[in-house]
Amino acid sequence: MTQLNITHVVVISLTAVFLLVAMDRTGELRGPQPAYRPPAPVQQAAPVVDTEKGKPPPHNDTVEDLPDGKGRDTTFYTCTACHGVALIKAQGLSRELWDSSIDLMIEKHRMPPVKPAERAEILDYLAEQFPPRRRGRGADNPFK
Ligand code: HEC
Repeated sequence: MTQLNITHVVVISLTAVFLLVAMDRTGELRGPQPAYRPPAPVQQAAPVVDTEKGKPPPHNDTVEDLPDGKGRDTTFYTCTACHGVALIKAQGLSRELWDSSIDLMIEKHRMPPVKPAERAEILDYLAEQFPPRRRGRGADNPFK
């Protein structure tokens, strides 16, 4: 008798488990699920440089945004067709490195070549106004 009873208990328990699993699968045991909502698109700040097109941002710079000096106009009108003066002012280079910068503008950024006389004028201006920042040992050292 006891044997039979245990068999009954096992069969009834297994049946109950199967039923519960089946009901759970059909969703009868769970409340209504919230509808899927796609995440809101993230608003991104405009990048400083649109890398997709490799284009620097537009600018409203004028000649006065460059420090006064011989060759300022030529430099401004040659160098700000594609970007503002900020990129130029951020650099401090020797005449030689400014020269390679112009090569870079021509080769990499498709700047139209400049006449030798204009190029020399621009180089004089750039080397004079934006020289390398570190002028010798301790030049910028406040603890000197
Ligand atoms: C035909 C377009 C064009 C002209 C004209 C042009 N540039 Fe550029 N220049 C670029 C582009 C494009 C970049 C890259 C912008 C960036 O990476 O943010 C750049 C970047 C620069 C940079 C920053 C480079 C660096 O490594 O940080 C300097 C400095 C610069 N230009 C100087 C000049 C000077 C000086 C002239 C004039 C002789 C000039 N550019 C004329 C297109 C031009």
